[in-house]
Amino acid sequence: MTPVVLIAEELAPAALDVLADDFDVRHVDGTDRTALLAGLAEADAIIVRSATRVDAEAVAAAPRLRVVARAGVGLDNVDVPAATARGVMVVNAPTSNIVSAAEQAIALLLAVARNTASASAALKQGEWKRARYTGVEVQGKTVGVVGLGRIGVLFAQRMAAFGTRLIAYDPYIQPARAAQLGVRLVGLDELLRESDFISVHLPRTPETLGLIGEKELATVKPGVRIINAARGGLIDERALADALAEGRVAGAGIDVFVTEPTTSSPLFAFDNVVVTPHLGASTAEAQDKAGLSVARSVKLALRGEFVPDA
Ligand code: NAD
Ligand code: MLT
Repeated sequence: MTPVVLIAEELAPAALDVLADDFDVRHVDGTDRTALLAGLAEADAIIVRSATRVDAEAVAAAPRLRVVARAGVGLDNVDVPAATARGVMVVNAPTSNIVSAAEQAIALLLAVARNTASASAALKQGEWKRARYTGVEVQGKTVGVVGLGRIGVLFAQRMAAFGTRLIAYDPYIQPARAAQLGVRLVGLDELLRESDFISVHLPRTPETLGLIGEKELATVKPGVRIINAARGGLIDERALADALAEGRVAGAGIDVFVTEPTTSSPLFAFDNVVVTPHLGASTAEAQDKAGLSVARSVKLALRGEFVPDA
């Protein structure tokens, strides 16, 4: 019987081509739980992005499942222990979209510094208001990077070219490695106190969820601008909205939300907040890389061959 590969989210056409000849490729809307569980009943592999929850219930609904493939980086929507306990392999594409994600964080940072989104919206509404949208320069500012992993490093390297002073909080990184990058490692308290811009580049884990909440936002440098193109919930949305309302935080660029998809958030009320619907990895290049990488891994795994690290 031809193995069934269930595609639960948008996948690059090039990736579908890799699978088309050898497998029975089926499509399902991964956010439609009933359809997902029904589709999993016959699936040998499933390919998801970030919107599909592959939890213990999903794994239990898939007696033939051999591979869960995440076309991207974060694995917070996959219950890896539940899959592993059933002998199901979990693969992702850990470098596929890191450049795109870092560039999205920088795009948001610059848009927040220069009020690009709100000035654009106002002009299209017929308002030519130059004074209202006066921004700030990035050069000479202190930029705090929370999480100096693959994306945090790419973000820091690019921000260095803007003439910023870079500090980072990441307890799992050696100070010498940070120093090589021209980044000073500091504690979270110091980063919050000193940064003019903060950008978060963490995975969502029990440890990082709510890492920047009401208490932390009370200690930030007044006028800080905050970027989150990593995961919703790392920065508490309600606490951030309160800090924006008080003016302690001067702006925010937010790509990810605690609940996704969403069309309502306390952050949407602010003119100085730029929001995007989880677009960090949404580039042609990143989608090709992520899709091809996981399609190749699924092919190897279903043939019983060795799957190298992506
Ligand atoms: P990575 O694993 O290379 O880096 C994560 C870093 O966070 C590591 O250096 C780690 O030491 C650090 N870290 C972990 N726990 C920490 C803690 N409690 N405090 C401080 N630092 C901590 O991952 P990456 O490739 O840089 O990706 C980071 C995250 O970005 C992903 O997990 C994913 O959730 C998110 N992401 C979002 C998009 C998007 O579309 N917006 C795209 C790609 C990735
Ligand atoms: C990721 O973790 O790779 C990102 O959230 C991108 C995505 O899946 O869209």
